[in-house]
Amino acid sequence: MLAGRTALVTGAGRGIGREIAARFAREGATVFVNGRDEARTQAAVEALCAETGGDLRPAVFDVTDAAAVQKGLMAARKQTGQLDVLVNNAGIMEGAMLAMSSDDMLRRTLNTNVEATFFVVRTAARLMMRQEGGGSIVNLASIIGRVGVEGYSAYAASKAAVIGMTKALAKELAPQNIRVNALAPGFIETDLTSGIEGDQRARVLAQIRMGRAGTPADVAGPALFLASDLSSYVTGQVLGVDGAMVT
Ligand code: NAI
Repeated sequence: MLAGRTALVTGAGRGIGREIAARFAREGATVFVNGRDEARTQAAVEALCAETGGDLRPAVFDVTDAAAVQKGLMAARKQTGQLDVLVNNAGIMEGAMLAMSSDDMLRRTLNTNVEATFFVVRTAARLMMRQEGGGSIVNLASIIGRVGVEGYSAYAASKAAVIGMTKALAKELAPQNIRVNALAPGFIETDLTSGIEGDQRARVLAQIRMGRAGTPADVAGPALFLASDLSSYVTGQVLGVDGAMVT
C-alpha cells in the first residue's frame, strides 16, 4: 500500500511509533526511523529491518531543535528524493494536579508535543509542496486532548493544540494536495502508560467498552489508512482509536 513511498516517523524507537514504522515498511515504504540517540536509533533500525525485511533507515535528531529538524529532514529527503508521509509521533506525557504543576513540566510538554510538531510539519510541508504527488501528514493527538482528564491539564492542552494545528493545516495545505489528519488514541500499552498501575489502571480499563487496552498495532492500522491512498479524500479529521472509551 505504500510501495515507492518515503515515510518518516518521529520517536519511532519504541511504542506506537515503532509499530507504525514496521507496518509502513511491510507495506513497501522506505521508512526513516527518527530518534534522538544515534546508537539506540541504529539498533532499532537493525531490529526493524530484520523483523520486517523492509527498507528502514535512521534519522537522528531531537524534534524540539528546529535547526536539527530541518537538517534531518533534508538529509532524509536527499536519500530517496522524496518525502510522501510524515507521522508526528514523538511525544511526552507527564501527570500532575494543577496545584502541584511546575513551570518546567508545562514548558517541556508544550515544547515536545506542540512546538516540535510545528517544526517537523513546517519542514516536511515545504518538501512535500515541491513534489507533484503532495503528501500525507499524520499527527498523534490523544483522547485526552478531546475530552480532558484530571491530573493531565498540560498534556490535554498540548494535544488539543495538535488537533487545532491539524485542522488549520488541512485547510492551508489542501491546495498543494497535502493531507493532514490526526489520530486520537485512548489507552495504549506502551512505556508511556506503563506507570499507570493498580487501582488507576483498573479505573481506566473499566472505561473501555471493548474491555481491553489497545496495542501499538491497533494504532498502526489507522495510521496506515491515513498515510495511504485509501484516505485520498480525507483531511482535517481526528480519528479516535480508543475501543469505545467512556469519557
Ligand atoms: P513512548 O513514550 O513509548 O514513545 C515516545 C517516543 O518519542 C520515544 O521513543 C521517545 O524517545 C520519543 N521522543 C520523545 N521526545 C523526543 C524528542 N524530543 N525527539 C525525538 N524523539 C522523542 O510513547 P507512545 O505511547 O508510543 O506514544 C506515542 C505518541 O502517541 C505520543 O505522542 C503520545 O502522546 C501519543 N499517545 C499515546 C497514548 C498511549 O496510551 N500510549 C494515547 C494517546 C496518545
